[in-house]
Amino acid sequence: MRTQVGIIGCGPAGLLAAHLLHRAGIHSVILESRSRAEVEGTIRAGMLEHWVVGLLNQLGLGERMMREAQFHDGITLQWAGQRLHLPLAELTGGKRVTIYAQHEVLKDLIAARLADGGEIHFGVGATALHGIEGTTPSITFRHGKTGAEETLDCDYIIGADGFHGPSRQAIPGRTEYEKVYPFGWLGILCHAPLSHHELIYANHARGFALLTTRTPSVQRLYIQCDATDRIEAWSDERIWAELQARLAYPGWALSQGPIFQKSIIPLRSFVCGSMQHGRLFLAGDSAHIVPPTGAKGLNLAAADVLVLTRALEAKYRHNNDEALARYSETALRRVWKGERFSWYMTTMLHDNAQETSFERQIHLADLDFLRTSRAAATALAENYVGLDFDA
Ligand code: DHB
Repeated sequence: MRTQVGIIGCGPAGLLAAHLLHRAGIHSVILESRSRAEVEGTIRAGMLEHWVVGLLNQLGLGERMMREAQFHDGITLQWAGQRLHLPLAELTGGKRVTIYAQHEVLKDLIAARLADGGEIHFGVGATALHGIEGTTPSITFRHGKTGAEETLDCDYIIGADGFHGPSRQAIPGRTEYEKVYPFGWLGILCHAPLSHHELIYANHARGFALLTTRTPSVQRLYIQCDATDRIEAWSDERIWAELQARLAYPGWALSQGPIFQKSIIPLRSFVCGSMQHGRLFLAGDSAHIVPPTGAKGLNLAAADVLVLTRALEAKYRHNNDEALARYSETALRRVWKGERFSWYMTTMLHDNAQETSFERQIHLADLDFLRTSRAAATALAENYVGLDFDA
């Protein structure tokens, strides 16, 4: 098997890369260890930055999204018994955010790629990278069903195989930056009517809570929990009691309904100091992880592959490899801003038992500063809707 760009991983980074390369006339093949059903059924966050929605529409991939997504011009922050509406669109010259679940984006991208004749191999195992320091890199993998081993020869490899994939491990001598938070998130999906016209991020003494949505009749909510909690310890009654306590606001009611999905995730910040080595280029979670507060994961992955595929296009079209040589440096400038914002939202809004009472007061001052300073509110809004590209 041979292709121009071998892509490991069929998540947002790998799929969007395949679409962007296809549009540039560059052939790619995606290898994915999970089944298609697993990829399309994994529940993640659901917030798309302004420019990501524009890009998906430009690529002709946004039709169902524009029909089914929820569009939000603002968010609400809640703390110490008060609510603050941040008018994102007004603060950013009209930019809004779109709520559309990540796995719905993946379904649309997979269907469109296959309809275009794109090659995606699901359920392949034992993926290994070879020769990335030379000019003829390759990927070996095993078909899950037949057990047959194959080699994919390529010009370049995109490692979009997530935090646990093999790609990052192939970069020798890399520096890694990491922060693990001493709490997790319990996320639920439930059948219930909309409680509020926009997302509510709540800082509460009992811990953080987030109200978000999926459709007019399906709601998504998150609460801070212990990172080591087992989901069995959280009955539906206990989840609703915590949500009601943390989101409570005079004159407002949180609507409840049957919970049909619940899971716990840990919170982590992570950056791999180099996103390229030889002919291997990392994109998305394989190179960096953000805690979910602010939902930057998919958006950072999309930014990586936009930078990377433009650089690959310059190489194939004009034999210019300057942008490719600078990929890691260019991508990391935006990544670190996403890391900073996700860390800021997380620390400001969560109750952290490892912090001092002094630090807790600082977070309340940070929140109050958003109320009193249009500059502070604008800074949050610019990050939330998605930063401009400075590359
Ligand atoms: C969602 C998740 C987030 O972490 C966030 O900050 C906003 C929205 C979501 O799943 O809708």
